[in-house]
Amino acid sequence: MSKTKNLYIKTFGCQMNVYDSERMATSLGAEGYSEVSSPEEADMILLNTCHIREKAAEKIYSDLGRYKSLKAKNPDLKIGVAGCVAQAEGEEIIRRQPLVDIVVGPQAYHRLPAMIKSVENGKKSIDTDFPEEDKFEYLPSAPKMKRAPSAFLTVQEGCDKFCAFCVVPFTRGAEMSRPVSQIFNEAEGLVERGVRDITLLGQNVNAYHGPMGSADATLPQLIKELSKINDLKRIRFTTSHPNDMTQELIDAHGEVEKLMPYLHLPVQSGSDDVLTAMNRKHTAKSYMEIIEKLRFARPDIALSGDFIVGFPGETDKDFEQTLELVREIKYAQAYSFKYSTRPGTSAADSKKQVPEEIKSERLAKLQNLLSQHQKEFMGSMVGRILPVLLERPGRMDGQLVGRTEYLHGVHATIDQAQIGDIVNLRILGADTNSLRAEFVSF
Ligand code: SAH
Ligand code: SF4
Ligand code: F3S
Repeated sequence: MSKTKNLYIKTFGCQMNVYDSERMATSLGAEGYSEVSSPEEADMILLNTCHIREKAAEKIYSDLGRYKSLKAKNPDLKIGVAGCVAQAEGEEIIRRQPLVDIVVGPQAYHRLPAMIKSVENGKKSIDTDFPEEDKFEYLPSAPKMKRAPSAFLTVQEGCDKFCAFCVVPFTRGAEMSRPVSQIFNEAEGLVERGVRDITLLGQNVNAYHGPMGSADATLPQLIKELSKINDLKRIRFTTSHPNDMTQELIDAHGEVEKLMPYLHLPVQSGSDDVLTAMNRKHTAKSYMEIIEKLRFARPDIALSGDFIVGFPGETDKDFEQTLELVREIKYAQAYSFKYSTRPGTSAADSKKQVPEEIKSERLAKLQNLLSQHQKEFMGSMVGRILPVLLERPGRMDGQLVGRTEYLHGVHATIDQAQIGDIVNLRILGADTNSLRAEFVSF
């Protein structure tokens, strides 16, 4: 092998990009690249990008602009753009920013090593195919080194739902599910490296239908398979669509002890008119019914959601219905966004765009309410004894940082335990973003 080269990866967007970046780093590791933490040291810079809102996509070009001086200093520096902007914009990226050498879409990551070779020979390389072959079969698995106790694992990719605002069906392609055995092996490999908490990822993860033997498994079946791995202690999944929340999956929340009592289930809006215009194919009521069933199956379940304000045609009354739904459900955590027009989506041409000031006003109101609930939920942890997975050392001597079943960060000074342990901690107080606790028992 030739001498090691330095790779700098910067990840934008969702958890799937975090997972993909890790797989790309492993794959390039096999080609002699080792990861560094600053672009100044790099021989190769890879931006793993997100196209979901305009701001996210535009940010890439300002970042790329900043690398100009680095390339002037080091003419051998290679710059690659991966992820959803790469898929959506393809060669347009190189037209706008000629210092880019590689543009690679999410379904072509296994071809990255070959693309780099072509760039080393002086040719720019673009691949935004949706290839026949399964990239997961070709991406190398990570070396057996200890790693952090929480990990993401993609089990499903792509989306066939075509919500009127969303680019994902275009950037990630059609829905596909990985085979159960492939996922099981990867999960076992992660657990051998110290992982205790796995979040199963998919754009539409509860539509999972990967092959198991001669039939297709459902997500709850996959979860039950994975729960057989002894040292895997916690299982989560994200992101789900309300229409794929089957009774079997709801029941699994009551049956599988390792499945965490926390679910991210985006609703986007509380108005049926807006939901119809969004092509969500569910109503506010049908969503509420799912939540009711979930709370019946698992009374301590906490919910998280996504919201869009200012979707074309959204009236004050529609927005009020969103606030009502939020008041009713009381999310433990939520993400909310102003509607952003995305090229190629069906809402983009709507003549009923909502003015920017109104979007900002609504967003502020909604976020105010959501953060009030979030604080209340976090506050309700104080005084309780909770199982916490210890994830990393804290800033203070002897301090460890972990996570509750509800994903709250917890700081505690503990000397008996180590990273990867699940310990019972008494929650002493809640700060803005995390909890403070003391050790109770193993
Ligand atoms: N697959 C997931 C969501 C993917 S995108 C799902 O179906 O829930 C994550 C979130 O970004 C969405 O839930 C939505 O709230 C938000 N989003 C997507 N497109 C958007 C747009 N054009 N403008 C504003 N927010 C958007
Ligand atoms: Fe986008 Fe809708 Fe698919 Fe989620 S379900 S990825 S919001 S199109
Ligand atoms: Fe963004 Fe692509 Fe994820 S658009 S949210 S990185 S699937």
